[in-house]
Amino acid sequence: MAPYARLTGWGMWVPERVMTNQELEAMVDTSDAWIRRRTGIGERRIAGSQDTAVTMGVAAGRRALEVAALSPQDLDLIIVATVTSERIFPACASQLQHALGASRAAAFDVNAACSGFIYALVTAYQFVLSGTCRRVLVVGTEVYSRILNWQDRSTCVLFGDGAGAVVVEAGPPPTDALSFVLGSDGAGADLLYVPGLCGAAGPFNQDGHHYLTMVGAEVFKFAIAATVAATQQALAAAQLDISQVDILIPHQANYRIITAAARALEIPSERVFMNLERYGNTSAASIPMALCEAIDQGRLKKGDHLVLVGFGGGLSWGAVALHWAGGRN
Ligand code: UT7
Repeated sequence: MAPYARLTGWGMWVPERVMTNQELEAMVDTSDAWIRRRTGIGERRIAGSQDTAVTMGVAAGRRALEVAALSPQDLDLIIVATVTSERIFPACASQLQHALGASRAAAFDVNAACSGFIYALVTAYQFVLSGTCRRVLVVGTEVYSRILNWQDRSTCVLFGDGAGAVVVEAGPPPTDALSFVLGSDGAGADLLYVPGLCGAAGPFNQDGHHYLTMVGAEVFKFAIAATVAATQQALAAAQLDISQVDILIPHQANYRIITAAARALEIPSERVFMNLERYGNTSAASIPMALCEAIDQGRLKKGDHLVLVGFGGGLSWGAVALHWAGGRN
């Protein structure tokens, strides 16, 4: 009989340092009013000099293991979603595995930008449902503050640093995940990217920078369409109607993207979770951080249906529909 899988642990960690919109006013030609009106973001966290994707991911991972009542040695696999790893190699996941003391676990990274957590989560479920692994830690961890051009007002106001993690475990029936959706359109690769070290043209973009570059308006349109389509596909595969969704947890990029998608999906705003006002867009960390806060705020009850949905560089997107089992029990 095929094994069953469920999400049994969750945790998040953000750096202490808060950067307000007012601080950004002193750095670039912007205003608190513009940022709030166009994005919904009020502040974001910025990594300290000693914080990295590894240290933040370890902190979030430890909390997720605590909730799941597991020790690091119980883990069979660690999957880390990040595009802000300290090194090109080894993987952030390898460093995180060592720092956590998860000596039995295999480890690898997933690069799907802001969709990375969904890609990693779907992968974790496949490992558990196939019987290959019993306990998988999935981490989304990002330090975008180190890939931003702090003189570019069109991008530097949008992102923040943080980490979130979940544990996916083999367990008694039923499996809490009901459907998985993943997608990619590499034709949009130039719309949102950070140059690498190994490109034929060298490590810079057209402007001579190595920072994140984004065609905001194009990504905006894609983001709404991808959120709507991925959610609808996940619901159809799970044989659910949008009216049965108790909470939608989308990637936290811009409240205008989220509200436009929610309107198109015909889901009332009180069933859509948002915390981007306090963190900005934390890329692969945004969905697990939002999930943690939704749980902590008592927004999820056992038996609820939820959809996690993400989009980002690639272009890429993904969604998972779940029947919330309430953790380990
Ligand atoms: O995780 C996925 C990654 N990214 C996203 O999801 C982001 C998707 N895109 C967006 O969220 C929006 O396109 C932005 C928030 C980036 C931009 O908002 P917008 O309403 O689409 O603004 P816009 O790019 O059309 O720019 C409108 C104006 C421009 O001035 P002009 O040309 O009309 O004079 C910009 O130069 O706003 C200006 N502008 C700003 N003004 C003050 C752009 N950034 C700023 C800023 N402060 N920070």
